[in-house]
Amino acid sequence: MLIQSRKCHPQNLPIRAYKEQILYGIDTNSTLIILAETGSGKTTQIPQYLIEAGYGGEERVLVSLPRKMAAISIAQRVSDENGTELGQDIGYRVRFDQKVSENTKIEYVTDGTLIQIIMGNPLIEGYSVVMLDDIHERTLNTDLLLCLIKKIQKKRSELKVIVSSATMQVHLLSNFFPNSKIIAIRGRNYDVDIMYLLEPCKNYVISAVELAYHIHKKMSEGDILVFLTSVEEILAFIHLWSYYKTNCVVLPLHANLGIDKQLLVFKQHSSRKIIVSTNVAESSVTIDGIVYVIDSCYQKVKVYDYKRNLDQLNVLPISQQSGAQRAGRAGRTRDGICYRLCTKEDYSQLPKTFPPEILRSNLTELILQIRSFSLTPNHLQCSNTFLTPISNEQLIHSINTLMSLKLIDDNFSLTELGNSIVDYPLETKLAVCVENSFLDEYQCSDEILKIASILSIQGGIFSSDATPLQMLKAKKALGCKEGDVLSLHNIFVRYMNIGNKGNWCDTYRVSKHKLESAGKIYKQIQKRRKNRQIKSSIQDVEAVQRCFVSGFFSQVAQRENTAREGVYRNIYTKQLVYLHPASVLTVSYPEWVIYHELIEQNQKLTMHNITELDPHWLFEIAPHFYKDARQEIAEMKHQQEKDQLDKVEADKQQKQQELLMSQESKV
Ligand code: CDP
Ligand code: MG
Repeated sequence: MLIQSRKCHPQNLPIRAYKEQILYGIDTNSTLIILAETGSGKTTQIPQYLIEAGYGGEERVLVSLPRKMAAISIAQRVSDENGTELGQDIGYRVRFDQKVSENTKIEYVTDGTLIQIIMGNPLIEGYSVVMLDDIHERTLNTDLLLCLIKKIQKKRSELKVIVSSATMQVHLLSNFFPNSKIIAIRGRNYDVDIMYLLEPCKNYVISAVELAYHIHKKMSEGDILVFLTSVEEILAFIHLWSYYKTNCVVLPLHANLGIDKQLLVFKQHSSRKIIVSTNVAESSVTIDGIVYVIDSCYQKVKVYDYKRNLDQLNVLPISQQSGAQRAGRAGRTRDGICYRLCTKEDYSQLPKTFPPEILRSNLTELILQIRSFSLTPNHLQCSNTFLTPISNEQLIHSINTLMSLKLIDDNFSLTELGNSIVDYPLETKLAVCVENSFLDEYQCSDEILKIASILSIQGGIFSSDATPLQMLKAKKALGCKEGDVLSLHNIFVRYMNIGNKGNWCDTYRVSKHKLESAGKIYKQIQKRRKNRQIKSSIQDVEAVQRCFVSGFFSQVAQRENTAREGVYRNIYTKQLVYLHPASVLTVSYPEWVIYHELIEQNQKLTMHNITELDPHWLFEIAPHFYKDARQEIAEMKHQQEKDQLDKVEADKQQKQQELLMSQESKV
């Protein structure tokens, strides 16, 4: 039977009753705060009301959203409502993709794209209204945009700003925008029943599969949305589900998936659809036809650990705020049911909200951006610039990192290097490497640009289900012995020159879509530096390695003298770190290594993307950072040599002892 979801007509959305109030509010105030549940019609309707009211005369209305998929799908939806072609009256701009024209009146963009727009057009001229949408997601970008927009508004008083949120505490926003008007929108369309487990479950992936099957067999029509925490869990779900042999369409949804594959979830199917998602689907998109939500009540959260200098990815229980959002995904187009895979009692113990990203992230890049936009007269005032004040510990850590990379000077002003990297679409340390690669002493910009592009791919360039052994095999076949970073570079180069890319990618278990994305990033950086000549070091491996050191010099480790192989110690933080099992260096175990990332896996700090290094380079390239370490390393080396001599001596003595004993026994 064809499942027909009842599409909600724009006239029936809760926001419709507030149209006049919203328009009056924006006419008479410069900032409007709109609070309304997901699905009320904020993102699709408000911009259209504004155009009707004349805000799109000479200028455009811009809507900024946290996610790419939301920007594209909503622009499509609004174009459909208007009966216009996407990219004409209504368009979108996201990284690497855009559909806009001279006629465009409403532009949907991602938060990252809006930051880029502001870098090139600091007063965002040409836009009459900016709507910062879904700011309850509180990403680093939304928090930065709030500061930027507030500053722009001071200089361009006619700019109208709308801030919309599904669940935010109002007082935070009204303190941040003191002269704003708040409109709270009531009413939701359909009811959602909430079901809990009677007993806690042992494995929520298995429980989710069983429950989805039960729904499929016993319950009436309607699609199912399952919330899990990671790609691995999503793949496990899909694998387990395949044993049931149903005619359901099962679709994964996560940020590592290409945007085309993400958008497949909106396609209507004649059989029941099961979407298995990370919290990508939690808010900001509405997928028609979802009637059942299965919520694991867990999420994967990135938390930066200042003491250990690394990002930790933890699976943590969600907040009740997220739980409510997830439940709200059912019942958008008719009554729905949300099954929470925990007991009612356990759910009531969950925290009400979760700390925003700004309180749990490494803020180095954000502080660099804040300084480049001159948002604060000096670094000490940074802490109160944001919606939620950041801690001194966070600030000091970021300032130290920026100083050691020579991106800001003693007055906390951006240096020449700082100014030239701030608009790179790369993490700070990689951007430093790229900028340095143009210098005479390195001259390897072609290689470093490629390396930077690959290392910016979230989750790496291998297929999501490739095993460490398969990765190692590919790197051994195509890479080089000096390390993973150079091996990945070689894989990328081979990929670009190969004919039948599909087969080749299958053979080496690399992801075509991820390598294509790396190619796009490469072109983007190349374009940004079009006035500079891109040079190749022509196989000068050392130049590339040294250039990598110029950004990552604080991430160096020395092999430990233990019986177990692959154990290293970071010479700066002194913590024990391990070679990743897929590293090409697991063949040679060099004494000194430098790595791109440190990730905690199975309670072990694992180095990712590692390269061999000569420790002398550290003193040449980052003498300011290693000035105290030189002596220490010399002493360490001395101690090691002494240990080795002692060991030889001890072995000798033991052998003599054994010889003596065997002679005695003969006697
Ligand atoms: O922004 P908000 O969450 O308040 O709602 P919206 O995104 O404007 O969506 C309003 C309504 O439009 C939803 O409840 C859906 O019924 C519908 N919609 C849809 O069917 N497909 C989309 N891609 C977007 C919205
Ligand atoms: Mg919305």
